[in-house]
Amino acid sequence: MPLHNDIYTLTPQIIKQKNEGLLYEKEEEILQETIPMAKTPLLTMIAAAAENNALGKDNDLIWHISDDLKRFKRLTSGHAIIMGRKTFESMPKALPNRTNIVLTNKRDYQPEGATVVHSIEDALALVKEDPQPFIIGGGEIYRLFMPYCDRIELTRVHHNFEADVFFPEIDLNQWKEIAREEIKASEEQAYNYSYITFEKK
Ligand SMILES: NC(=O)c1ccc[n+]([C@@H]2O[C@H](COP(=O)([O-])OP(=O)(O)OC[C@H]3O[C@@H](n4cnc5c(N)ncnc54)[C@H](OP(=O)(O)O)[C@@H]3O)[C@@H](O)[C@H]2O)c1
Repeated sequence: MPLHNDIYTLTPQIIKQKNEGLLYEKEEEILQETIPMAKTPLLTMIAAAAENNALGKDNDLIWHISDDLKRFKRLTSGHAIIMGRKTFESMPKALPNRTNIVLTNKRDYQPEGATVVHSIEDALALVKEDPQPFIIGGGEIYRLFMPYCDRIELTRVHHNFEADVFFPEIDLNQWKEIAREEIKASEEQAYNYSYITFEKK
């Protein structure tokens, strides 16, 4: 049987036969075990947003939550990360141990350590072999890729901040919360925050 329904799907030919009623249940089970499945990546958006959806200001992050940065590193390491040109330029350099993909309209843009793309389609084509590629921001890029994503890993900081870039509204008709971990403010971190995972319905 498939290891993970989100990752392993039936081939178009089998779906067609199934829809036309040409496959009996038992045959379908056997085919699922024997025919190589078409892989689809679990495209995951990862972001930290305040209660008012604030993401950043003056092309920088607003808060510093060390545990959240560690979690970001743990989840994204070894994977492709897709980001906007402004987010890439807000970092000192390309993020190590990850395939950095930068979206820009600038045709002559050649940053060190990153692959440049000029459209959503080209970005998605580059990550199709990765089981879990990540969309890492910023505001424009989250908005652009939201319809293509299967999962959102959101760190919700329970406070309102002044900002110039915001995370898009999560439409609960389309997304359902599947996990939540609440973290209390501490000496290192002034705000309560939660790690929330959403999956597309
Ligand atoms: N809190 C968080 O989790 C988080 C995460 C990431 C970033 N941020 C913050 O977000 C802010 C940056 O976000 P932002 O919305 O200003 O910028 P952004 O999304 O990082 O990048 C926007 C740029 O992406 C390119 N782009 C957008 N759509 C495109 C398309 N369809 N085709 C080709 N290129 C396209 C354009 O680059 P060109 O102008 O070069 O054409 C555009 O200027 C910063 O403050 C950063 O610190 C926060």
